[in-house]
Amino acid sequence: QKTYHIAVIAGDGIGKEIVPQAQAVLEKVTRGKADIRYEDFDLGAERYLRDGAVLPDEDLDRLKQQDAILLGAIGDPRIKAGILERGLLLKMRFELDQYVNLRPSKLYKGVVSPLANPGDIDFVVVREGTEGLYAGAGGSIRRGTPQEVATEVSINTAYGAERVIRYAFQLAMKRRRRLTLVHKKNVLTNAGDMWQRLVDQVGQEYPDVEREYLHIDASTIFLVTEPSRFDVIVTDNLFGDILTDEAGAVVGGVGYSASGCINASGTYPSMFEPIHGSAPDIAGKGIANPTAAILSAGMLLDHLSFEDEAASIERAVEDDIERSGSTQRSTEQIGRDILSRL
Ligand code: IPM
Ligand code: MN
Repeated sequence: QKTYHIAVIAGDGIGKEIVPQAQAVLEKVTRGKADIRYEDFDLGAERYLRDGAVLPDEDLDRLKQQDAILLGAIGDPRIKAGILERGLLLKMRFELDQYVNLRPSKLYKGVVSPLANPGDIDFVVVREGTEGLYAGAGGSIRRGTPQEVATEVSINTAYGAERVIRYAFQLAMKRRRRLTLVHKKNVLTNAGDMWQRLVDQVGQEYPDVEREYLHIDASTIFLVTEPSRFDVIVTDNLFGDILTDEAGAVVGGVGYSASGCINASGTYPSMFEPIHGSAPDIAGKGIANPTAAILSAGMLLDHLSFEDEAASIERAVEDDIERSGSTQRSTEQIGRDILSRL
């Protein structure tokens, strides 16, 4: 039996409530097959409010030694926007070179979509995770004066775009072999042109994958008028951020959306997290839905090559949603119900 070291960052708000449910599911499906060792990391709002630390080098070094990271949620209304986002979440994505932000959207049976005619929705957004407008290039001068200048520069490297595009093609080969590049190449003529050329170039190696291009604005329309057309969408960091929130809404709310921040070259651990936030309004009440965290644990197992176990988690969640998805249940009850289907 191989040993796996998993970092657990339960984080803030409902993160602390949902992560134990995901851990219980992980334990159950790997029993007798893998020896899972958890290491808890005290990161997030409470740590910051207590000692001002966001992500000290010492914690980052320890994170680098893990096989994977399970994250609950980060965020607290008492802390100024940007501190934890940039200092913790984005810092981990960048420092651990998690260049594939993998975000599947599936409309499960029994979940009500806000769309009148949703059809079969089952697609994955492959969002670039380390560059674009998130990279932190730019600055501000004359701050607070009428002459203030503020810039954010979108960083797009051929290296960074190509590797995520290649990942998207490989994923499309395992799925319905359809890849949509989303960008805004009619306006962003430098980066858009480069992304398109790289998609065409890498696409030569995957002749069985059908390619299409959509502008970001048009894609937000198609996501609500014809979501079943999508299989794999590849896009940059900010477009991917926006599109995956919309995707979450279309499949019945981000409560069912899991994600992986993946370092596909394996140099550092990948991180798995629900797309939703820390939900301070319902934190501490024991009513948060742990489904997205449980699905994230499934993605983590898939990443560690436990494909069958990952598939069994998804099936258990699907069953659970189909039979009791719309009934009011506590966090623990949902966790127990899903466990009992495994
Ligand atoms: C997400 C979040 C983050 C992002 C924020 C919290 C930095 O919205 O994971 O989608 O923009 O990537
Ligand atoms: Mn987001």
